[in-house]
Amino acid sequence: MGDLYERLVDCRDVLAERTGCERHDVVAVLGSGLGLYPGTLKDAVAVAYRDLPGFPIPAAAGHAGTAYSVQMGKNRVLLLSGRAHAYEGHAMDVVTFPVRTAILAGCRSVLLTNAAGGCGDGIAPGDLVLITDHVNMAGFSALKGQNDDRLGPRFPDMSDVYTPELRRRALAAAERAGVALKEGIYFWWQGPMFETPAEVRLTRQLGGSLVGMSTVPEATAARHMGADVLGISLCTNFAAGIAAHRLSGEEVMETAAVAAEKFCSLFDELLPTL
Ligand code: HPA
Repeated sequence: MGDLYERLVDCRDVLAERTGCERHDVVAVLGSGLGLYPGTLKDAVAVAYRDLPGFPIPAAAGHAGTAYSVQMGKNRVLLLSGRAHAYEGHAMDVVTFPVRTAILAGCRSVLLTNAAGGCGDGIAPGDLVLITDHVNMAGFSALKGQNDDRLGPRFPDMSDVYTPELRRRALAAAERAGVALKEGIYFWWQGPMFETPAEVRLTRQLGGSLVGMSTVPEATAARHMGADVLGISLCTNFAAGIAAHRLSGEEVMETAAVAAEKFCSLFDELLPTL
């Protein structure tokens, strides 16, 4: 086993061989319940994560563990259906490994999607929400540990994690697709338990609109490597304490399935433009 950089390079080479594509331009991570999208595309080349050395095999429900390589307009797009979460016990360099591999394979733009709880004004289950910024409430960082200068700087700037130009393109794509796209700040909580009502109130008081258990590690690693990042959440439920009923993973999956069509229409418009 080499160091992280060498393992990433090895995996990048296997990805090129398996997909028959030396380079990719855009990578999109498909969150909970969004795994059906690749099935709507013609000529996508599928590679199982187990054939990509170093890719974590996702355990969470709704996370498949398959990579797809497909041409969309000018872009060769890598769709990653399924992600590993910190709450599964993975080290941060495992959680961020697929996105880092994709960036080494040439991806300049990283689209991260997720299911999230909504707590912001005007945000309701079924809404798609463009992430404008994030707050790390998990208490640890994707970049903790020794820095490898080949990947990025020790102290990367986080002023514009979610690239303004890509956000403009996302809003334009949503308009063309006829899909409403709201905007909000995403708070990363470690999980796997849903937040408490007090944690959700704290999030709201600090200006957060969304609570979720993913995305921030990958966004951080991608910015570390200098890639542009876009984040889109599907609000699957009112966050704890806002609705009267208790939360469950099943509710998240059900809403994700209902809203999947909107997400697909948005992706069709957006991915060729990133
Ligand atoms: N909290 C955290 N993560 C989530 C939620 C939530 O309410 N819904 C979907 N993912």
